[in-house]
Amino acid sequence: MLSPAQLLSIQKAAVLIKQGDVVGFPTETVYGLAARIDSEEAIKKIFSIKQRPFFDPLIVHVSSLEQAKTCAKQWNKMAQTLAEAFWPGPLTLVLPKSELISDLITSGLDSVGIRWPSHPVAQVLIQAVGVPLAAPSANKFGRTSPTKAQHVREEFGDSVYVIEAGQSEVGIESTVLSVKKIGDEYQLAILRKGALLQSQINEALQQTKLDFNWAQQIDKKEAPGHMKHHYMPTVPFIICRNPSMKLSELSLILNTRLAELPDEVEGVKIIKPTKQIQKIEFLKLSNDPTQAAREMYSQLRSVSLRNPEALCFIQLPLHSGEMWESVFDRLYKAASLIVD
Ligand code: TXA
Ligand code: MG
Repeated sequence: MLSPAQLLSIQKAAVLIKQGDVVGFPTETVYGLAARIDSEEAIKKIFSIKQRPFFDPLIVHVSSLEQAKTCAKQWNKMAQTLAEAFWPGPLTLVLPKSELISDLITSGLDSVGIRWPSHPVAQVLIQAVGVPLAAPSANKFGRTSPTKAQHVREEFGDSVYVIEAGQSEVGIESTVLSVKKIGDEYQLAILRKGALLQSQINEALQQTKLDFNWAQQIDKKEAPGHMKHHYMPTVPFIICRNPSMKLSELSLILNTRLAELPDEVEGVKIIKPTKQIQKIEFLKLSNDPTQAAREMYSQLRSVSLRNPEALCFIQLPLHSGEMWESVFDRLYKAASLIVD
C-alpha cells in the first residue's frame, strides 16, 4: 500500500515528467532517472544530467504487457513466455524496436531494452504519466548506482525531484537479456548479469516447447554498456584476491600500481589516490549474495563519504555461485585495481 504522501509525490513527479522534465524514482533494483519516451528534449536531458555518452542506450519502463508490446516490433512467443515468468521484476528484454522508440533512446540500435518494474511506486508513476518512461540508473556516468532517494540527491542536488521510497529491495540493476528469433529457434544472451539468474531462465524455459540456445559470444556493438569500468565510488577501491596477503605488502602494491593507472578508460575517470596510502579500510558485505547485492552500492557510497585513503574488498572462496557472479560483475568494474 502506498502512503498518501507517496501518492502526492508520485502525482507531482508525473506532472513534471509530462512537462518534459526528468525525475528520480524508485524501482526494486536501483533508483532511476525517468523521462517520457515521446519527448526528444526530455530524453536529451537524461543524457546531459547524467553526463552519459549517447552511445549507451536507455531502458524503456512499462507498466503492462500491452504497453511493452507497443515498444517491440514483434512480440514473439519467447518474449511472452519470459514476460509471464519474470515480469514485473528485474528483467530487461532486448527485442527489435517499434517506431515508437527513437534512435536517441536506443543509441541507433535496432533493438530496445524493455522492463516492467515490480516496485509499486514505479508502476503507479508510469500509469500516471500514461506513456512508457526511459530511465537509466540515477547516477552520473561511470559512478556508483543509487539504492536510496538520498543517493540521487547526492548525485544531482536539488535540480532533480526524487520520489522517496526507502532502500531498493534488489540493490543491483536488472538482468539484461537479448532475445533473437533465428528461423524457428531463439538465441538468448545475457548482456548484463543481475538478480534474475541464467539458471532460473533455463528452468522456466524447460517447461515450454520453445527451441533456444545461449549465444557463445556477445558482439560489443550489441552491448554498448559493456565497459571495463563503471559503478566507481569516489575513493580508490581495490579487490584483493589473495586473502593471505599481508597488509604491509598490499599497501606497497597499491602505492606503486595505483599511481601507474591511466586517468581515464573509455571515458570513465579512474579513481586514484591523491597521496601515499597508509591506512586501508575494508568493505564488509554479507556472506549471503542476495543481501550483499542489496547493500553493496549503499556501502560503497557510505564508506566513500568518510573519505578513506583506499577501500579494499577481499574476495574469498565462499564468494562463488551465480548470484555472486552478478555481484562481482559490479564490484570488478567499480574497482580501480585487482590484486592477486
Ligand atoms: O534495473 C535497471 O535496469 C535500472 C532501473 C532504473 O530500471 N536501469 C538501468 O539502466 O540500469 P542503465 O541505463 O543504467 O543501464 C542500462 C543497460 C546499459 O548497460 C545499456 O547498454 C543496456 O542496458 N541496454 C539498454 N538498451 C539496450 C539495447 N537496446 N541493446 C543492448 N543493451 C541495451
Ligand atoms: Mg547505470
